[in-house]
Amino acid sequence: MNEVLKNIQTRRSVRAFLPKQIKEEELELILQAGLIAPSANNSQPWHITVVQNQEILSWIVEKNKEKLRQSDDPEIVKRGLDEKTHNFYRAPTVLIVSADLSRVYGMSDCGNLVTQMALAAHSLGIASCYIASFMNAFRDGQMDLLKDKLEVPAQFTPVFSLSLGYPEGPLPEARPRKQNAVNFLK
Ligand SMILES: Cc1cc2nc3c(=O)[nH]c(=O)nc-3n(C[C@H](O)[C@H](O)[C@H](O)COP(=O)(O)O)c2cc1C
Repeated sequence: MNEVLKNIQTRRSVRAFLPKQIKEEELELILQAGLIAPSANNSQPWHITVVQNQEILSWIVEKNKEKLRQSDDPEIVKRGLDEKTHNFYRAPTVLIVSADLSRVYGMSDCGNLVTQMALAAHSLGIASCYIASFMNAFRDGQMDLLKDKLEVPAQFTPVFSLSLGYPEGPLPEARPRKQNAVNFLK
């Protein structure tokens, strides 16, 4: 198997990071790998906010935990009260990706960008986790609050994030994949 295919096959979502910050040059390579992603008509309907300020990340997490605590389900309330709950798994760097949702393919183009950054990170020995749950607290009319906090340009809306850091411990096993997702017409 060539190195590219090996990198694709061995990438994992990692949910435990060392508290050490990644290097600037590594971050730059990851961003560049995302920004070269394919997009419909090369529209590049994305904006990336690099967040290394833990106070801002904690603010987002706390908003989400507040929301969990409002649930009718006691198990969800428990997660909202749990010290360990953290949407970004305490990663030292989080890339928040915002989409121009007026573009038909805005969301999927941003997915391409995130995937390329995750693969680039993995090739550099940096762990990542693609995360959307941080949006839950802001979906019902609070998006502007999040956009202001993140200084996201007006035409974009946060949709995904990528947590980045050096992995704490070995990478997890691959989760099983569906076996019936392909059909062939020859
Ligand atoms: C759009 C999207 C949203 C995701 N959101 C979360 C999330 O909020 N929290 C989380 O822990 N993982 C999240 N994941 C990671 C998936 O759970 C993970 O990719 C999947 O279980 C397969 O595991 P793997 O990435 O290790 O192959 C998300 C992945 C995608 C593509």
